[in-house]
Parts: sequence; structure tokens; C-alpha cells
Amino acid sequence: MFEEKEVGDLFRMQCKICQNAIQPFMNFGKMPLANGFLLPSQFQHEYFYELMPAFCDECAVFQIAYQPKPEKMFTSSYPFFSRTSQAMREHFKQFAHSAMCEYLKGREDPFIVELGSNDGILLEHFAQNKVKHLGIEPSSNTAEVAMAHGVRTLIRFFSKELANEIVSAEGHADVVLSANVVCHIANLQEVAEGLQKLLKPDGFFIFEDPYLGDMIQKTSYDQIYDEHVYIFSLQAVQNIFGRLGFKLVDAMPQPTHGGSMRYVLVKKESSVKPDARVKQYLEAEHQQKLHLVETYLAFKQNCERSRQKLVMALEAHKKYGKRVIGYAATSKSTTILNYCNIGPTLIEFICDTTPLKQGRYSPGMHIPVKPHSDFLKQYPDLAVLFAWNHQKEIFEKEKNFVKVGGKWLLPL
Ligand code: TMP
Repeated sequence: MFEEKEVGDLFRMQCKICQNAIQPFMNFGKMPLANGFLLPSQFQHEYFYELMPAFCDECAVFQIAYQPKPEKMFTSSYPFFSRTSQAMREHFKQFAHSAMCEYLKGREDPFIVELGSNDGILLEHFAQNKVKHLGIEPSSNTAEVAMAHGVRTLIRFFSKELANEIVSAEGHADVVLSANVVCHIANLQEVAEGLQKLLKPDGFFIFEDPYLGDMIQKTSYDQIYDEHVYIFSLQAVQNIFGRLGFKLVDAMPQPTHGGSMRYVLVKKESSVKPDARVKQYLEAEHQQKLHLVETYLAFKQNCERSRQKLVMALEAHKKYGKRVIGYAATSKSTTILNYCNIGPTLIEFICDTTPLKQGRYSPGMHIPVKPHSDFLKQYPDLAVLFAWNHQKEIFEKEKNFVKVGGKWLLPL
């Protein structure tokens, strides 16, 4: 069900960064919340919005034209817990250690803040090393898991006001970290102003998010959903934060989420000089034509081809009476299933290890979500791997499925 005001917003399309008029280059159609796993009693009142990606050629920012309100997305029953994956636990351990070695070196009694600290998967390493830290997390259920792991957490959205409160109570931060969160926040001006207050003059703001270059190259359109209001490139980060008083001084590609980028920023006045990597990656983006609208029109065509291929493959399996299930009820799968109109007639159920998702139904298409044990109990003929970004870990864990003749299908 649409809310009247939100339908109205569809016709006021402005770049969220520079206010330039923007035109979506594609419409994925009516979409539910990517993490809105629900019960049958909620089907009738399920919330939908139009998922329309757009590219602003003025400031080079890839964005969705309309994003549902944050309070709708990040609730007290937010079902995404970073620590469910072994690879993610390892990734965040390394992230914490690299931050400690490279950016906290020589600092006396440093203070680390994380925006969107989820279940504490990153900050727990600072807690274990007795480094002063504070997580900011709006979803109370994930924040409680973080606290149970010894991570000091405030259940709040980050804002200028909160930055002032933290500075008064705890002092300025040496480093602010964030992973898979900045791309969720439409109002980056508020974030940047908060960071200007919170960070020491020589402080670092380090964040990582899914990378536009990877998404375009792999046609991984499932990165596009309500929470990801932006998919960043270096050029976009430089343009966005440059106008808000920050300087991009380093960037490092990351393997997470099917291809991410870590960005290191400092205040404009800082003496830290950009690493040569920044120029190199900016040049690579230019070669990939990430600044041109034609790239996104080609991406749209690739999405349509990908949809056709997936639907044809699933229909063929159905025709031959094969059992097909989905593996991992990821937020990304919501875009694929709704865009391709794939429901329970093509996919019997989706197995997932997250207890909060089990017994519920997938957003929009209402495919049952079942525990992982249901997959093991009776292997299907085909499993569609929605957590394709965890492929290595999952293929290793499920070797037996292939041994007995089971097949994997990558949805993109
Ligand atoms: P993500 O792709 O956004 O990280 O979502 C991960 C989802 O996949 C989460 O719901 C947990 C689920 N999952 C499994 O069910 N089994 C697994 O082995 C892994 C790695 C993830």
C-alpha cells in the first residue's frame, strides 16, 4: 500500500546531494522493504514504494529517486545481523586491526565511534583491546546483541545534535568508522556536519560500502533496494564530502557484499595528502565510464537480460518437475524476486540461518522462509544462491549437496 505523500514525492525528483533535477533511468516496479519479512496477517497491509534508480550527471551520484522513511526500515525487529557469516567476522576483525595499527598509532587514549554498529561485529575488537569506543545504532535488537558482546552502544540515529552530546560527555573522536551504513543515509549533510563536530582536527572518517564499479561490471542490480539510497563511486564520495568540508585521502577495494570500497576521509584543513591510489581509482572509474548516463542505460538492458535468463531457468525446472529452493533470504533477494516476479510457484521456500526471518515470508512475493535444517532434511534439485556474496563460505559448507547431485544457480 502506498502512502499518499510518498506517491507525491515521486514527482519531485531532485538529486539528494546537489538538488539538480534527475530522471530515473529505470523502474524496478513496486517494491516492498528489502528486510520486511512478514507474517500472513501482515500481507494485506504490506508497504510498497517504487524502486527507481537515477544517476545525477551533475555530481556523479547514483541514487534511488525515492527512499522510504528510515523509521520504516530500521526498526526494533531489524532482521540483519552481520555476525551470521564467518567471512564477515573475519573481515571486520581485519578492519579493526588495520584501523588500530594505521590510524590510532601514537594516539594517547584514543576514542573510536562507529555509525550503525549493528551487532557489534567491528567494535567488539576495540572493546577486547580496551580501546575507548561507542557504537551508534538505531535498531534496538541488533544493538542489544552488540551490548551483550561488551560493546558500548547508544540506540539512536546519528545527527548533529547527537554529535554535540557525545563531545560534551566523552570528548572528540580520533576515528569514526562505518560499514554498510553511509549508503543508507539520504541526508549526508547532517552526517557531515555531525562529523565535523565529533572528529578531532586530525581525526579520520573511514567508511566502506558496496561499490558502484563492481555493481555495473557484474550487473549485480540486487544491490539496489530501499536501504541503499546511494551506491557510491570514488568520484561521488569526493564530490559529496568535498562540498561538506572533507578530503578523500585513500581508498581500498574490499571483497565484501560482492565488491565494496573503503574510503578514508579527513577534514579539509588536515595536512594528510591523498594517496596515489585515489587518482588511480578515479582514472579507472573514468575508463569504466561511470560518469556517463549511457553506462546506466546499458546497465538497465543488462538487468532485463538477467531477469529473462533467471525466469526462463526457473520455469524450465518447474516444467520438468524439479524441486527448487532459495538459499539465504538476503535483503538483496527482495529486489530480484519482486523485479522478476518470482513467487512460491517457482521457489518452494528460502532457507536462512537467521531465527528472526524463519517462519516468516519473503517481502512482496511471500515465499516461506525456513530454517537451514529444512534444506538439509531433504535436498532440493536446485538451490538459488541469493547470498552469492558468501559463495565461497557456503559452497564449502554445503559440499555434500553437490556430491549427491544437487545444483546451484547464481541468480545474476
Ligand atoms: P547478506 O548477503 O546481506 O550478508 O545477507 C546474509 C543473509 O544470508 C542472512 O539472512 C543470513 C543468510 N545466510 C545463511 O542463511 N547462511 C549462510 O551460510 C550465510 C553466510 C548467510
